[in-house]
Parts: sequence; C-alpha cells; structure tokens
Amino acid sequence: MNSNHLQQIQTFEAYQTTYAKSCENPEAFWSEIAQSFLWKKTWNKVLNWDFKTAEITWFDGAALNITENCIDRHLANDSGKIAMIWEPNNPTEAARKISYGELASEVNLLSNVLTELGVLKGDRVCIYMPMIPEAAFAMLACARIGAIHSVVFAGFSAQALADRIIDAGCVAVLTADGMFRGEKKIELKKIVDEALLQTPSVQKCLVYQHRNFDINMEVGRDFDWCSLTANAATHFNAVSVDSEAPLFVLYTSGSTGKPKGILHTTAGYMVYAAYTFLNVFQYKPGDVFCCTADIGWITGHSYVLYGPLLNGGTTVLFEGIPNYPDAGRFWDLIDKHKVSIFYTAPTAIRSLELYGKAPFEGKNLSSLKVLGSVGEPINEDAWQWYFENVGKMNCPIVDTWWQTETGGIMISPLAGITPLKPAFATLPLPGIQLAIVDDKGNELYGNDVAGNLCIRYPWPGMARSIYGNHERFIQTYFSIYSGMYFTGDGCKRDEDGYIRITGRVDDVINVSGHRIGTGEVEDALNEKGFVVESAVVGYPHHIKGQGIWAFVICEQADIDYETLCNELRQHVSVSIGGFARPDVIQVVKGLPKTRSGKIMRRILRKIAEGETNAFGDITTLLDSSVVEQIIEGAQVFLRQKS
Ligand code: WTA
Repeated sequence: MNSNHLQQIQTFEAYQTTYAKSCENPEAFWSEIAQSFLWKKTWNKVLNWDFKTAEITWFDGAALNITENCIDRHLANDSGKIAMIWEPNNPTEAARKISYGELASEVNLLSNVLTELGVLKGDRVCIYMPMIPEAAFAMLACARIGAIHSVVFAGFSAQALADRIIDAGCVAVLTADGMFRGEKKIELKKIVDEALLQTPSVQKCLVYQHRNFDINMEVGRDFDWCSLTANAATHFNAVSVDSEAPLFVLYTSGSTGKPKGILHTTAGYMVYAAYTFLNVFQYKPGDVFCCTADIGWITGHSYVLYGPLLNGGTTVLFEGIPNYPDAGRFWDLIDKHKVSIFYTAPTAIRSLELYGKAPFEGKNLSSLKVLGSVGEPINEDAWQWYFENVGKMNCPIVDTWWQTETGGIMISPLAGITPLKPAFATLPLPGIQLAIVDDKGNELYGNDVAGNLCIRYPWPGMARSIYGNHERFIQTYFSIYSGMYFTGDGCKRDEDGYIRITGRVDDVINVSGHRIGTGEVEDALNEKGFVVESAVVGYPHHIKGQGIWAFVICEQADIDYETLCNELRQHVSVSIGGFARPDVIQVVKGLPKTRSGKIMRRILRKIAEGETNAFGDITTLLDSSVVEQIIEGAQVFLRQKS
C-alpha cells in the first residue's frame, strides 16, 4: 500500500465520470480512496452525518497514525529521498535538505522528548515558530504521540497568542528564540514569555535556538530543544488514535466574536489532504513542490506539510518573503531548487507585478510545470501576469478555493486537465456537492446564477467542531441555510457552469490573504480610552486585495490626527498583530445606525469603495445626515488612493 495506489485523475472525461460517481455513491468513492493508506484497524462505517447537530464522522471505528502515512510507509523504498528542502530567509545562508529517513529520526527524537516532558495523547500543544524544519517536526511529533497541535502564526502578538493558548488549554508551547522576516527581527521567545504570564495551563516550553538571540529561560518551565533531543532515542512507536481523534486546532476569524479554534480530526483530514494534493496539482513522483504559505495557516498545514508528505513528495519550506533581498527572490528559489509546482497567493503576485520584468532577468524558471493561487480572489490582470511571466504560457494555473474549515481544496481546476478560465476557480472536486442559494435560502439551480456558496453533503476534510464550543459551530455554519454548510462566500456560476468566487458576504475581510474579522479590529480599537465607538470595513486595495478602513468616534476632540493614528495602529498591533493595522482611519462624529442601534456596515462599505449615492434603502436610518458627513470626510482618503 503506497501513494501510487491513490487514484489520480488523468483526463477531463475521467474527472467528469469520477465526479458523477462521487455524488451517486460518496461512501463507496471515499472508501476506495481510503484503502490506499496505512491503517492500524479498518473502519466499520464510512460516513455518519447530521447537519442539524453538525455531528459528522468519517471512517468510524478505524485506528491509525497519520505520521505513519506521512513518513514510515516511505522508508522501505524512499528513505534517502528528500522530504523537505528548507530555504532560509537570507539566501546566502545554506539551504537544508532532509531525507525521509532523517525526517523519521527527527520526528521520533522529538516525540520522545515531548513524552518525557509529560505531554499525553489528547493534550493540546501550541506551536509558535519560524518557518523552519523544526516547526514541521513539531507538528508531526504531536501527531505521532496523539497530541493535538495548535499552530499560531508567528506574526500574532503576545496577547493574541495568550488568547489562543488559553482557549485551547495548551499544556506546552514549542517555540524558537526568534527569526528574521526579511530584515525585520522578531523575538519570538520574548513574545512567548509575555503570553505565558497569562496562561496557567502551560507547564513546559521547548525552545529551539535558531538565531542565537539572547533569551530568558525559566528554570523548570523552559527547556533547550537541542539539549533534549541530543539525548533522546531515534525510535518511537507511533501511537494508535481513533479516526475521529482530533489532529489539530487552528484559529481563524469569523464575522463576530473571538477567533474560533477550528477542529480537524485525523482520518478524514488525512485522506482529503492527500487526495486533493495529488489531483489538483497533478503531482508526479520527482516533482518539487513549493507552497509559500506559512505553516501558521491552513494552507501551510495541508499543502506545505501533510499533502506533500502523504504522497511521498518533496516540499519546500520557505522562511523568507517575496521581496527580500529583492523582488526576484521567488524566481531564484524556483531555479535553485528546481521547483516544479509553485503555489502562492494573489497578493504576492500583485506586489511583484509592480517591479516589472527586471527581476526575471537571468532567471530560467524552466523547471515549472504547474502554478497555483490561493487565499483570495485572483483578478484577471494578476492571473495573466502570473501565466505569462512566471509560467511562460506553459503552466496551467490552478485557482484553488477553500477555507480553514474545509481542510483542503474544494473548487479548483485539475492542473492540465480542466480547461481554464482566468479568475475562475472553475469546478468542484470529486466528492464536493455545491449549492448556490439566495439570501432567503432558496437554491439557485442551473447556470448563470449568483448567490451564497453552500455545500450540501459532507466531505472527509471538513472541520468537525469549534474547539470547546460545538454550539457555535452549529450556529455559524449549519443554521443559516438549513441542511447545508454555509461558507460565508459569495459566488457566481457562469453560463458554462464555472464557479467564480466573488468574496466574503459576511463581516470577514481578507487582507493580503490574511483572514480578519472586522469585529476583532473594532474590539481592539474600542479598548483605547479615547475611542467611543468604531466600525471597520474592508475596501478594495490594489495589492492587498482588501485594505482595512476604520471609522472611529473620538471622545477627545483635541488629540491631533497623527498621534491618534499612531496610537490606534500600535494598539491593534499589540492586541492582534501588525497585519491587522487599519490602513485608513477616519474620525467621524456619528455612525449610520438603524433605529434599533445596529451599525449599517453596508453603507460604510460602499463609502469606502468610493460610492457617493446609490446606498439602497436607507429609510431605516436613525439620522441620515451622518452619512453625508462621512462621505465628505472619506473624500480625502479616496483622493489619496487614486
Ligand atoms: C477566500 C485559505 C477566492 C475565501 C485557504 C475563503 C478565496 C477564505 C480563494 C478562506 C480563491 C480562499 N478565490 N477566494 N481561490 N481561496 N479564498 O480560512 O473568502 O484563510 O472563505 O483559508 O479565503 O480563508 P482561510
């Protein structure tokens, strides 16, 4: 049993028949795919589901360990094959290559260390690390011992980190001294020290010395990673877990409230990550796959780590950023490591577009076969630029739509197989049954329709709950349109049946591919003493996709504007992280509210888009003169942008 037996669709006709089969008999379809993995015990029932109670199980009764599928099963024939290539932030530093054999030893060492530190099956472990192989070892070691990893992107502030540790009740934190992102020095251990002042559940902290920064080590709590692994054994028997045992929690933002810990379980996630990786990217043995996402996001989980390793592939971990030391960094990386499949976000593409053709001089890029895009809608210009300049018109672009909650890609072309249409995610993958519904929940059948995107049938990779709050899981995803999973995205299905994602229809915004709840930014702004009230919306931004526009009512009339902006932006950085800082801060006297006191964000969104009249029905507004004042105030910012 190995990845060669996992079904790879080879033609568009095969996609169509496979898709039809997957809808007629989903259980038979997924069960056949699941056969190609290593199980410690097989399942009794492929699927149990109820979208009312949001109780879903896949491969019920089975037992396995995902790391045996990621690592052990490749050892017999491919122990010397490169599993991971690490490309450092600074290109003059040496890259690291880690074979499957070495990966096995590293993960086993760390599994032993975690066990010695007292981490047990089912415990939550927070991982707050740079993009280095040790971060991948950490995730895999958690999975190997049956612990649940909760990776927090190393761009979140101490407060945001503490909130996530507390919510998941993590018993341990794995971190590093620090890192450089481009030229920026980030002292991770200092941030962890600050967070741990608030987190009584954390007993142990393991620290990897990556950059030799001066750090504080608290005796009894903090341990040096390499000293412990140096004395550990290189063998560890993977713990057997139930198919529905939680594999990880990953926090993401929603329309309202605090970030939610999306819970993914073991078997279904494994099958789905592996299947989608193989088929969407048309991965072939020997390919070098590079996804530029950070492992702190779902894309990093499914397609930097699990998807490639489950297929015995070679995955590149890139520590740096697209424009350091210059705007040719991605292209150098592709040539240096002979990358064949390259997967990045539209925001990176748009930012590189600004540099023109110069960064491509002397770059070959002939190793590339497939390009991918993820995280936000890709506009047609960016698509064409990517296709022509990076793919040299030879590489299909897979525009992959999915979410933290879906575990893996849901709507996407299969590379080289599905006929492409720029800016369209095209067609659902096998096993994915879409429904487009209007605001009242009526399904819109046929082509040439636009509405809210829902999924009507379970798929193995779907989230199973929100950590510690199943009720919120039901309310957020399964109660808006009865009997369906609601994605929060809008889409249209064109005359050919192709899907184009039009963006969020809720109060979530997508800034440079980072998902941010407007409510979280408002909460942070409102914490500042001089802010009476605030409302945050997204507006179109030529590079970031969306920018953050904050409307604030201030108590203190005499505070000068620059000080106010600095203080508010600084506070958002402390409370959430630098990436959530508002781009525009507009001081207003009032906010448009309904008579019942609800802020009408729809109007603010339109104003931030530059609209000056067509606001739809505003008769329910308490005081419509407020709108006039806000429009007038917004002009200054709109002029600056154009
Ligand atoms: C958006 C990232 C258009 C969408 C994998 C979704 C996209 C949210 C695309 C999830 C795409 C992701 N085209 N929009 N190809 N991919 N999105 O949870 O709004 O960080 O709901 O997962 O990103 O963001 P998340």
